[in-house]
Amino acid sequence: MTKQNLFTFLFLFFILRTVGGFEYQDDELESEESLLKLYDRWRSHYHAPFNVTTQGVDRYEVFRSNANYIMKINKMKLPYKLKLNHFANLTQIEVVDMYSGISAEEETTTIIENTDVDPPDSMDWRERGAVTDVKNQKKCNSCWAFATVATVEGLNFITTKRLLSLSEQQLLDCSSEDNNCKGGTRGVAFQFIAEKGITTETLYPYKEIKGDCLKNIEASVTIDGYSWVAQNNERALQIAVAQQPVTVSIDSNSPVFTSYSGGIITNGCGTKLSHSMAAIGYGTEANGRKFWILKNSYGSDWGEGGYVRIERGISDTRGRCGIAMQPIYPTSIKNIVRANTYEI
Ligand SMILES: *[C@@H]1O[C@H](CO)[C@@H](O)[C@H](O)[C@H]1NC(C)=O
Ligand SMILES: *[C@@H]1O[C@H](CO)[C@@H](O)[C@H](O)[C@H]1NC(C)=O
Repeated sequence: MTKQNLFTFLFLFFILRTVGGFEYQDDELESEESLLKLYDRWRSHYHAPFNVTTQGVDRYEVFRSNANYIMKINKMKLPYKLKLNHFANLTQIEVVDMYSGISAEEETTTIIENTDVDPPDSMDWRERGAVTDVKNQKKCNSCWAFATVATVEGLNFITTKRLLSLSEQQLLDCSSEDNNCKGGTRGVAFQFIAEKGITTETLYPYKEIKGDCLKNIEASVTIDGYSWVAQNNERALQIAVAQQPVTVSIDSNSPVFTSYSGGIITNGCGTKLSHSMAAIGYGTEANGRKFWILKNSYGSDWGEGGYVRIERGISDTRGRCGIAMQPIYPTSIKNIVRANTYEI
């Protein structure tokens, strides 16, 4: 190996190790030949089945159609980019069927936020240490549990200054009425935590499938209850997120969301809510474009290290992808004063 090659090797090795996802060059999507090779490489990277057809669908055709879409979008100079990720062999319908998971949320009291207060221009709860590492719901419609837990982890940190990773599996086993990773509601999950408390990820780890509810596990965190943010009001949502991480639901049934790799999503999604996440911050780019920062549960290979930014402050009051339609957050006795101060 020449010095130059060694350098290139070390450089690539370092980059690949840091990024961890599937790496490829844009021009590999351009020809049929290189795309076939890329498909083989993709398959071995993600340990996907070698079968041409799975579940009656030609997987290379799906991969090719996803690759073409990604190439088309990335050439459009939009404020976001897409990439081939672990969903590249799946159709959009399959992704939404298997990797989201919200049921209709029963509306309870809506708190009318005091929208006179002036929230800070930006907030990022990661910088304040209130956000645990990105998790992965895997092939299970348990987004509701991940979104709920992320906001309880945040609230617990804000009230106790202790960051604890909490158990989604406990919610999946004990709070969901469904039998098999088929979705749930954040409201029911918050109610469960208010009544029974929630334990840690370590004591009750994620299994990616619903199991029997383990009793007699000591709760580490409890909350008082939960509350809705005023609906269809991005300013109310901003005020709420300035105080603590808040769960939101969005319309994830979009190839833009599925293949999202970075930037700010400004189009390509509707308002038919299908997926919950935790809004953990917001901000504004130098060019004036405003965004929300959401913690997703698709692992850290997806999006911006597992996070997604979605456009904020649009004329449609439902917000981009319906983000302002159903925001819910946990409340705590210790946190009952929703003061107009944002320092913790
Ligand atoms: C799609 O690829 C994943 C790996 O990313 C694999 O686990 C899964 O079985 C594949 N699904 C189908 C339907 O081929
Ligand atoms: C792949 O093919 C093998 C052998 O034909 C079959 O047993 C297996 O079920 C197939 N796997 C999938 C995911 O379709």
